[in-house]
Amino acid sequence: MMLYENMGVTAEGHFTFGGADTTELAAEYGTPLYVMDENMVRKAVRRFMDSMEKYYGGRGEVHYASKAFSCMEMCRIINSEGAGLDAVSIGELYTAVKAGFDVKKIGFHGNNKTDEELRYAVEVGVGHIIVDNISELERLEKIAAELGKKPSIMFRIKPGIDAHTHDFVKTGQIDSKFGFALETGEAFEAVKQAVACSNVELTGIHCHIGSQIFDIAPFEEAARVMIGFISEIKNKLDYEIKGLNLGGGFGIKYLDSDDPSPFETYMERVSKVVAGECERLGIAQPFIYIEPGRSIAAPAGITLYTVGARKEIPNIRTYVSVDGGMPDNPRYILYGSEYSALVANKANEERSEKVTIAGKCCESGDLIGENMPLQHAESGDIIAVLATGAYNYSMSSNYNRLQKPAVVFVKDGASRVAVKRETLDDIIRNDI
Ligand code: LLP
Repeated sequence: MMLYENMGVTAEGHFTFGGADTTELAAEYGTPLYVMDENMVRKAVRRFMDSMEKYYGGRGEVHYASKAFSCMEMCRIINSEGAGLDAVSIGELYTAVKAGFDVKKIGFHGNNKTDEELRYAVEVGVGHIIVDNISELERLEKIAAELGKKPSIMFRIKPGIDAHTHDFVKTGQIDSKFGFALETGEAFEAVKQAVACSNVELTGIHCHIGSQIFDIAPFEEAARVMIGFISEIKNKLDYEIKGLNLGGGFGIKYLDSDDPSPFETYMERVSKVVAGECERLGIAQPFIYIEPGRSIAAPAGITLYTVGARKEIPNIRTYVSVDGGMPDNPRYILYGSEYSALVANKANEERSEKVTIAGKCCESGDLIGENMPLQHAESGDIIAVLATGAYNYSMSSNYNRLQKPAVVFVKDGASRVAVKRETLDDIIRNDI
Protein backbone atom coordinates (compact mmCIF):
# COMPACT_ATOMS: atom_id res chain seq x y z
CA MET A 1 0.00 0.00 0.00
CA MET A 2 1.37 3.36 -1.00
CA LEU A 3 0.88 6.48 1.08
CA TYR A 4 -0.59 8.56 -1.80
CA GLU A 5 -2.30 7.83 -5.08
CA ASN A 6 0.51 9.26 -7.23
CA MET A 7 2.96 6.65 -5.96
CA GLY A 8 3.65 3.31 -7.62
CA VAL A 9 6.19 0.63 -8.43
CA THR A 10 7.55 -0.36 -11.85
CA ALA A 11 7.94 -3.95 -13.02
CA GLU A 12 11.63 -3.89 -11.96
CA GLY A 13 10.66 -2.72 -8.49
CA HIS A 14 11.46 0.98 -8.84
CA PHE A 15 9.42 3.49 -6.89
CA THR A 16 7.50 5.93 -9.08
CA PHE A 17 6.24 9.35 -8.09
CA GLY A 18 3.95 11.38 -10.32
CA GLY A 19 4.62 8.86 -13.08
CA ALA A 20 8.42 9.28 -12.91
CA ASP A 21 10.85 6.51 -11.96
CA THR A 22 12.56 7.98 -8.89
CA THR A 23 15.78 6.02 -9.43
CA GLU A 24 16.06 7.70 -12.84
CA LEU A 25 15.43 11.10 -11.27
CA ALA A 26 18.21 10.42 -8.77
CA ALA A 27 20.55 9.38 -11.57
CA GLU A 28 19.69 12.38 -13.74
CA TYR A 29 19.66 15.16 -11.15
CA GLY A 30 21.78 13.73 -8.31
CA THR A 31 20.88 13.45 -4.64
CA PRO A 32 19.74 14.72 -2.24
CA LEU A 33 16.85 15.83 -4.39
CA TYR A 34 13.47 17.34 -3.66
CA VAL A 35 10.80 16.14 -6.06
CA MET A 36 7.41 17.85 -6.32
CA ASP A 37 4.45 16.47 -8.26
CA GLU A 38 2.70 19.33 -10.05
CA ASN A 39 -0.55 17.39 -10.47
CA MET A 40 -0.73 16.70 -6.73
CA VAL A 41 -0.32 20.40 -5.96
CA ARG A 42 -3.03 21.34 -8.45
CA LYS A 43 -5.40 18.65 -7.21
CA ALA A 44 -5.08 19.76 -3.60
CA VAL A 45 -5.69 23.40 -4.51
CA ARG A 46 -8.75 22.42 -6.54
CA ARG A 47 -10.14 20.30 -3.75
CA PHE A 48 -10.01 23.29 -1.44
CA MET A 49 -11.46 25.64 -4.04
CA ASP A 50 -14.18 23.19 -5.09
CA SER A 51 -15.25 22.56 -1.53
CA MET A 52 -15.35 26.32 -0.90
CA GLU A 53 -17.65 26.51 -3.92
CA LYS A 54 -19.80 23.59 -2.87
CA TYR A 55 -20.27 24.36 0.80
CA TYR A 56 -19.92 28.15 0.93
CA GLY A 57 -21.17 29.20 -2.48
CA GLY A 58 -17.68 30.19 -3.57
CA ARG A 59 -17.77 33.28 -1.36
CA GLY A 60 -14.18 32.88 -0.35
CA GLU A 61 -10.58 32.48 -1.42
CA VAL A 62 -8.00 29.80 -0.85
CA HIS A 63 -4.64 31.37 -0.04
CA TYR A 64 -1.81 28.87 -0.23
CA ALA A 65 0.53 29.44 2.75
CA SER A 66 3.80 29.76 0.89
CA LYS A 67 5.87 29.30 4.04
CA ALA A 68 5.25 25.59 3.51
CA PHE A 69 7.12 25.61 0.21
CA SER A 70 7.96 28.62 -1.89
CA CYS A 71 9.78 29.07 -5.15
CA MET A 72 8.80 30.94 -8.30
CA GLU A 73 7.52 27.82 -10.06
CA MET A 74 5.26 26.96 -7.12
CA CYS A 75 3.89 30.52 -7.17
CA ARG A 76 3.18 30.22 -10.91
CA ILE A 77 1.31 26.95 -10.39
CA ILE A 78 -0.78 28.32 -7.52
CA ASN A 79 -1.52 31.51 -9.48
CA SER A 80 -2.57 29.57 -12.56
CA GLU A 81 -5.15 27.72 -10.45
CA GLY A 82 -6.66 31.08 -9.50
CA ALA A 83 -5.84 30.64 -5.82
CA GLY A 84 -4.29 33.32 -3.64
CA LEU A 85 -1.18 33.34 -1.49
CA ASP A 86 -0.23 33.89 2.13
CA ALA A 87 3.23 35.44 2.18
CA VAL A 88 4.92 35.86 5.53
CA SER A 89 8.03 37.84 4.68
CA ILE A 90 9.37 40.21 2.09
CA GLY A 91 11.26 37.22 0.64
CA GLU A 92 8.11 35.20 0.04
CA LEU A 93 6.35 38.27 -1.28
CA TYR A 94 9.23 39.12 -3.62
CA THR A 95 9.25 35.54 -4.92
CA ALA A 96 5.54 35.77 -5.72
CA VAL A 97 5.82 39.22 -7.31
CA LYS A 98 8.74 38.10 -9.48
CA ALA A 99 6.73 35.03 -10.51
CA GLY A 100 3.96 37.35 -11.75
CA PHE A 101 1.49 36.42 -9.01
CA ASP A 102 -1.80 38.33 -8.91
CA VAL A 103 -0.88 40.58 -5.97
CA LYS A 104 -4.51 41.39 -5.20
CA LYS A 105 -4.82 37.81 -4.03
CA ILE A 106 -1.93 37.99 -1.61
CA GLY A 107 -2.37 38.31 2.13
CA PHE A 108 0.77 39.63 3.80
CA HIS A 109 1.58 38.16 7.21
CA GLY A 110 4.20 38.39 9.91
CA ASN A 111 4.20 38.99 13.64
CA ASN A 112 7.06 41.48 13.46
CA LYS A 113 7.08 43.06 10.04
CA THR A 114 9.78 45.59 9.38
CA ASP A 115 9.10 49.01 7.87
CA GLU A 116 10.84 47.79 4.73
CA GLU A 117 8.41 44.89 4.49
CA LEU A 118 5.34 47.06 5.12
CA ARG A 119 6.48 49.61 2.57
CA TYR A 120 7.10 46.93 -0.04
CA ALA A 121 3.71 45.29 0.59
CA VAL A 122 1.92 48.64 0.22
CA GLU A 123 3.93 49.58 -2.86
CA VAL A 124 3.21 46.36 -4.72
CA GLY A 125 -0.44 46.61 -3.63
CA VAL A 126 -1.12 43.30 -1.86
CA GLY A 127 -4.78 42.39 -1.35
CA HIS A 128 -4.52 42.84 2.38
CA ILE A 129 -2.01 43.06 5.18
CA ILE A 130 -2.72 40.99 8.26
CA VAL A 131 -1.73 43.30 11.10
CA ASP A 132 -0.42 41.59 14.22
CA ASN A 133 0.02 44.36 16.78
CA ILE A 134 -0.52 48.04 17.53
CA SER A 135 3.00 49.14 16.73
CA GLU A 136 2.53 47.66 13.28
CA LEU A 137 -0.82 49.40 12.85
CA GLU A 138 0.73 52.74 13.73
CA ARG A 139 3.75 52.27 11.49
CA LEU A 140 1.57 51.10 8.62
CA GLU A 141 -0.74 54.10 9.01
CA LYS A 142 2.31 56.39 8.57
CA ILE A 143 3.81 54.44 5.68
CA ALA A 144 0.47 54.36 3.84
CA ALA A 145 0.09 58.12 4.29
CA GLU A 146 3.60 58.71 2.92
CA LEU A 147 2.86 56.55 -0.10
CA GLY A 148 -0.59 58.07 -0.61
CA LYS A 149 -2.28 54.65 -0.45
CA LYS A 150 -4.98 53.11 1.71
CA PRO A 151 -4.21 49.43 2.21
CA SER A 152 -6.82 47.00 3.32
CA ILE A 153 -5.96 45.30 6.60
CA MET A 154 -7.10 42.39 8.72
CA PHE A 155 -6.32 41.86 12.36
CA ARG A 156 -4.73 38.67 13.56
CA ILE A 157 -6.74 37.48 16.54
CA LYS A 158 -5.90 34.87 19.18
CA PRO A 159 -9.22 33.12 19.55
CA GLY A 160 -8.03 31.21 22.63
CA ILE A 161 -8.27 27.76 21.08
CA ASP A 162 -5.84 25.04 22.05
CA ALA A 163 -5.70 22.65 19.14
CA HIS A 164 -3.80 19.94 21.05
CA THR A 165 -0.87 19.83 18.77
CA HIS A 166 2.90 20.22 19.18
CA ASP A 167 3.70 23.18 21.44
CA PHE A 168 5.84 24.82 18.77
CA VAL A 169 3.02 24.95 16.24
CA LYS A 170 0.21 25.92 18.57
CA THR A 171 -0.62 29.56 18.05
CA GLY A 172 -4.25 30.26 18.82
CA GLN A 173 -3.96 30.32 22.61
CA ILE A 174 -3.36 33.34 24.76
CA ASP A 175 0.33 32.72 25.49
CA SER A 176 1.43 33.28 21.95
CA LYS A 177 3.52 35.87 20.20
CA PHE A 178 0.93 36.10 17.43
CA GLY A 179 -1.91 38.59 17.27
CA PHE A 180 -4.34 40.33 19.58
CA ALA A 181 -5.99 38.56 22.50
CA LEU A 182 -9.76 38.41 22.52
CA GLU A 183 -10.43 37.63 26.20
CA THR A 184 -8.54 40.63 27.55
CA GLY A 185 -10.32 43.15 25.32
CA GLU A 186 -7.04 43.90 23.54
CA ALA A 187 -8.48 42.91 20.16
CA PHE A 188 -11.55 45.09 20.60
CA GLU A 189 -9.47 48.13 21.55
CA ALA A 190 -7.32 47.56 18.48
CA VAL A 191 -10.39 47.43 16.26
CA LYS A 192 -11.57 50.76 17.72
CA GLN A 193 -8.21 52.30 16.94
CA ALA A 194 -8.17 50.89 13.39
CA VAL A 195 -11.67 52.10 12.63
CA ALA A 196 -10.50 55.60 13.50
CA CYS A 197 -7.48 55.41 11.19
CA SER A 198 -7.70 57.31 7.94
CA ASN A 199 -4.97 55.62 5.92
CA VAL A 200 -5.84 51.97 6.41
CA GLU A 201 -9.15 50.21 6.02
CA LEU A 202 -10.00 47.39 8.39
CA THR A 203 -11.77 44.81 6.28
CA GLY A 204 -11.31 41.55 8.10
CA ILE A 205 -10.17 39.47 11.03
CA HIS A 206 -7.89 36.48 10.95
CA CYS A 207 -7.02 33.52 13.13
CA HIS A 208 -4.80 30.49 12.75
CA ILE A 209 -5.05 27.91 15.49
CA GLY A 210 -2.12 25.60 14.76
CA SER A 211 -0.79 23.08 12.31
CA GLN A 212 -1.14 19.37 11.49
CA ILE A 213 -4.58 19.33 13.18
CA PHE A 214 -6.68 16.22 12.56
CA ASP A 215 -9.81 17.22 14.46
CA ILE A 216 -12.42 19.49 12.95
CA ALA A 217 -13.90 20.58 16.28
CA PRO A 218 -11.20 23.19 17.08
CA PHE A 219 -11.73 24.77 13.64
CA GLU A 220 -15.48 24.91 14.24
CA GLU A 221 -14.88 26.46 17.62
CA ALA A 222 -12.53 29.06 16.15
CA ALA A 223 -15.13 29.98 13.50
CA ARG A 224 -17.77 30.36 16.21
CA VAL A 225 -15.56 32.62 18.31
CA MET A 226 -14.56 34.75 15.33
CA ILE A 227 -18.15 35.23 14.14
CA GLY A 228 -19.01 36.21 17.70
CA PHE A 229 -16.34 38.89 17.52
CA ILE A 230 -17.61 40.19 14.18
CA SER A 231 -21.03 40.48 15.77
CA GLU A 232 -19.66 42.29 18.83
CA ILE A 233 -17.90 44.81 16.56
CA LYS A 234 -21.11 45.39 14.66
CA ASN A 235 -23.19 45.84 17.81
CA LYS A 236 -20.80 48.06 19.70
CA LEU A 237 -19.19 50.08 16.91
CA ASP A 238 -21.73 49.77 14.12
CA TYR A 239 -18.86 48.63 11.90
CA GLU A 240 -19.08 45.77 9.45
CA ILE A 241 -16.19 43.31 9.20
CA LYS A 242 -16.55 41.78 5.76
CA GLY A 243 -13.74 39.22 5.69
CA LEU A 244 -13.01 36.26 7.91
CA ASN A 245 -9.70 34.49 7.48
CA LEU A 246 -9.64 31.13 9.22
CA GLY A 247 -5.97 30.31 8.58
CA GLY A 248 -4.58 26.89 7.77
CA GLY A 249 -3.50 23.90 9.79
CA PHE A 250 -5.18 20.91 8.16
CA GLY A 251 -3.40 17.70 9.02
CA ILE A 252 -1.99 15.30 6.45
CA LYS A 253 -0.90 11.70 6.25
CA TYR A 254 2.79 11.17 7.01
CA LEU A 255 2.37 7.58 8.16
CA ASP A 256 -0.04 4.84 7.14
CA SER A 257 -1.58 5.12 10.58
CA ASP A 258 -2.42 8.84 10.19
CA ASP A 259 -6.07 9.47 9.50
CA PRO A 260 -6.77 13.16 8.88
CA SER A 261 -10.27 14.37 8.01
CA PRO A 262 -10.77 15.16 4.32
CA PHE A 263 -10.70 18.92 3.51
CA GLU A 264 -14.24 18.63 2.20
CA THR A 265 -15.48 17.62 5.62
CA TYR A 266 -13.66 20.56 7.15
CA MET A 267 -15.22 22.98 4.66
CA GLU A 268 -18.66 21.48 5.05
CA ARG A 269 -18.65 21.64 8.83
CA VAL A 270 -16.99 25.01 9.19
CA SER A 271 -19.28 26.57 6.57
CA LYS A 272 -22.25 25.30 8.55
CA VAL A 273 -20.95 26.92 11.71
CA VAL A 274 -20.33 30.22 9.91
CA ALA A 275 -23.75 30.26 8.27
CA GLY A 276 -25.53 29.12 11.45
CA GLU A 277 -23.81 31.61 13.74
CA CYS A 278 -24.35 34.50 11.32
CA GLU A 279 -28.02 33.71 11.19
CA ARG A 280 -28.29 33.36 14.94
CA LEU A 281 -26.55 36.70 15.50
CA GLY A 282 -28.27 38.49 12.62
CA ILE A 283 -25.15 39.45 10.70
CA ALA A 284 -24.17 39.07 7.05
CA GLN A 285 -22.05 36.06 6.14
CA PRO A 286 -18.44 37.16 5.68
CA PHE A 287 -16.19 36.48 2.71
CA ILE A 288 -13.98 33.62 3.86
CA TYR A 289 -10.28 32.99 3.41
CA ILE A 290 -8.43 29.82 4.28
CA GLU A 291 -4.66 29.39 4.25
CA PRO A 292 -3.66 25.77 3.76
CA GLY A 293 0.08 25.22 3.44
CA ARG A 294 1.11 21.71 4.47
CA SER A 295 -1.99 20.06 3.03
CA ILE A 296 -1.18 21.44 -0.42
CA ALA A 297 2.59 21.02 -0.45
CA ALA A 298 3.50 18.08 1.81
CA PRO A 299 1.84 15.16 0.00
CA ALA A 300 3.11 16.60 -3.30
CA GLY A 301 6.77 16.18 -2.34
CA ILE A 302 9.37 13.54 -1.61
CA THR A 303 13.11 13.68 -0.96
CA LEU A 304 15.56 11.28 -2.57
CA TYR A 305 18.88 10.39 -0.96
CA THR A 306 21.72 8.02 -1.69
CA VAL A 307 22.76 5.63 1.05
CA GLY A 308 26.39 5.80 2.15
CA ALA A 309 27.40 4.05 5.34
CA ARG A 310 25.43 1.32 7.06
CA LYS A 311 26.30 0.62 10.71
CA GLU A 312 24.78 -2.27 12.57
CA ILE A 313 25.24 -1.90 16.31
CA PRO A 314 24.24 -5.28 17.73
CA ASN A 315 21.24 -5.21 20.07
CA ILE A 316 21.04 -1.44 19.75
CA ARG A 317 20.17 -0.21 16.30
CA THR A 318 21.15 -0.02 12.67
CA TYR A 319 22.11 3.32 11.20
CA VAL A 320 21.58 3.87 7.50
CA SER A 321 23.29 7.13 6.59
CA VAL A 322 22.20 9.29 3.69
CA ASP A 323 23.79 12.17 1.80
CA GLY A 324 21.49 14.82 3.30
CA GLY A 325 19.94 15.28 6.72
CA MET A 326 18.91 18.12 8.99
CA PRO A 327 19.94 20.86 6.54
CA ASP A 328 17.34 19.63 4.02
CA ASN A 329 14.88 18.22 6.58
CA PRO A 330 15.16 19.76 10.04
CA ARG A 331 11.78 18.49 11.20
CA TYR A 332 12.97 15.46 13.13
CA ILE A 333 15.53 17.36 15.14
CA LEU A 334 13.08 20.21 15.73
CA TYR A 335 9.80 18.41 16.39
CA GLY A 336 10.51 14.68 16.36
CA SER A 337 8.31 14.52 13.24
CA GLU A 338 7.82 11.10 11.75
CA TYR A 339 8.02 10.15 8.10
CA SER A 340 7.58 7.07 5.95
CA ALA A 341 10.48 5.98 3.76
CA LEU A 342 11.35 3.26 1.32
CA VAL A 343 14.28 2.06 -0.74
CA ALA A 344 13.36 3.39 -4.16
CA ASN A 345 15.28 0.74 -6.11
CA LYS A 346 13.81 -2.10 -3.98
CA ALA A 347 10.24 -0.86 -3.75
CA ASN A 348 8.73 -4.28 -4.44
CA GLU A 349 10.58 -5.88 -1.49
CA GLU A 350 9.27 -6.16 2.04
CA ARG A 351 10.20 -3.47 4.52
CA SER A 352 11.97 -6.12 6.57
CA GLU A 353 14.00 -3.94 8.94
CA LYS A 354 13.53 -1.09 11.35
CA VAL A 355 16.40 1.35 11.05
CA THR A 356 17.52 4.82 11.99
CA ILE A 357 18.04 6.95 8.93
CA ALA A 358 20.84 9.35 9.77
CA GLY A 359 22.05 12.48 8.06
CA LYS A 360 25.61 13.48 7.28
CA CYS A 361 25.97 16.38 9.71
CA CYS A 362 28.35 16.48 12.58
CA GLU A 363 25.58 16.18 15.15
CA SER A 364 24.07 13.05 16.80
CA GLY A 365 20.53 14.38 16.56
CA ASP A 366 20.81 14.75 12.81
CA LEU A 367 18.35 12.02 11.90
CA ILE A 368 15.54 11.68 9.39
CA GLY A 369 13.86 9.27 11.77
CA GLU A 370 14.23 6.32 14.10
CA ASN A 371 12.56 2.93 14.03
CA MET A 372 11.63 3.40 10.42
CA PRO A 373 10.44 0.28 8.59
CA LEU A 374 12.64 -0.06 5.50
CA GLN A 375 13.77 -2.57 2.90
CA HIS A 376 17.33 -3.82 3.51
CA ALA A 377 19.36 -0.74 2.53
CA GLU A 378 22.96 -0.83 1.42
CA SER A 379 25.51 1.66 0.17
CA GLY A 380 24.43 3.05 -3.21
CA ASP A 381 20.72 2.44 -2.71
CA ILE A 382 18.29 5.32 -3.16
CA ILE A 383 16.02 6.17 -0.26
CA ALA A 384 12.79 8.09 -0.79
CA VAL A 385 11.35 9.93 2.20
CA LEU A 386 7.67 10.65 1.61
CA ALA A 387 5.45 13.67 2.16
CA THR A 388 8.37 16.07 2.51
CA GLY A 389 6.86 18.75 0.24
CA ALA A 390 6.08 21.13 3.11
CA TYR A 391 8.47 22.68 5.61
CA ASN A 392 11.51 20.86 4.25
CA TYR A 393 12.91 22.92 1.39
CA SER A 394 11.40 26.04 2.98
CA MET A 395 13.18 25.33 6.26
CA SER A 396 16.43 24.10 4.75
CA SER A 397 19.79 25.54 5.71
CA ASN A 398 23.43 25.34 4.74
CA TYR A 399 24.50 23.83 8.08
CA ASN A 400 27.96 22.29 7.77
CA ARG A 401 28.18 24.33 4.57
CA LEU A 402 26.20 21.72 2.69
CA GLN A 403 24.71 22.80 -0.62
CA LYS A 404 20.93 22.96 -0.76
CA PRO A 405 19.47 20.27 -3.04
CA ALA A 406 17.74 21.00 -6.32
CA VAL A 407 13.95 21.00 -6.58
CA VAL A 408 12.58 19.10 -9.54
CA PHE A 409 8.92 19.13 -10.57
CA VAL A 410 7.41 16.06 -12.18
CA LYS A 411 4.23 16.01 -14.19
CA ASP A 412 2.79 12.90 -15.79
CA GLY A 413 6.21 11.28 -15.79
CA ALA A 414 8.16 14.21 -17.26
CA SER A 415 10.54 16.21 -15.07
CA ARG A 416 12.07 19.69 -15.00
CA VAL A 417 14.27 21.65 -12.61
CA ALA A 418 12.49 24.40 -10.69
CA VAL A 419 15.32 25.31 -8.32
CA LYS A 420 18.93 24.52 -9.21
CA ARG A 421 21.17 22.62 -6.83
CA GLU A 422 23.50 25.01 -5.05
CA THR A 423 27.09 24.96 -6.19
CA LEU A 424 30.20 25.30 -4.05
CA ASP A 425 30.47 28.85 -5.35
CA ASP A 426 26.96 29.52 -4.05
CA ILE A 427 28.25 28.49 -0.64
CA ILE A 428 30.85 31.28 -0.64
CA ARG A 429 28.97 33.82 -2.78
CA ASN A 430 28.50 36.35 0.00
CA ASP A 431 31.84 35.77 1.67
CA ILE A 432 34.33 38.61 1.37
N1 LLP B 1 -1.62 30.70 8.08
C1 LLP B 1 -0.83 31.13 9.07
C2 LLP B 1 -1.05 32.46 9.63
C3 LLP B 1 0.22 30.33 9.56
O1 LLP B 1 0.98 30.77 10.54
C4 LLP B 1 0.42 29.06 8.99
C5 LLP B 1 1.51 28.19 9.46
C6 LLP B 1 -0.41 28.65 7.93
C7 LLP B 1 -1.43 29.49 7.53
C8 LLP B 1 -0.27 27.32 7.25
O2 LLP B 1 -0.45 26.25 8.11
P1 LLP B 1 -0.47 24.76 7.53
O3 LLP B 1 -1.71 24.62 6.70
O4 LLP B 1 0.75 24.59 6.72
O5 LLP B 1 -0.47 23.92 8.73
N2 LLP B 1 7.31 24.48 10.56
C9 LLP B 1 6.21 23.76 11.17
C10 LLP B 1 4.87 24.34 10.79
C11 LLP B 1 4.74 25.78 11.17
C12 LLP B 1 3.43 26.37 10.71
C13 LLP B 1 3.46 27.85 10.86
N3 LLP B 1 2.30 28.52 10.38
C14 LLP B 1 6.31 22.30 10.74
O6 LLP B 1 7.25 21.96 10.05
O7 LLP B 1 5.48 21.49 11.13
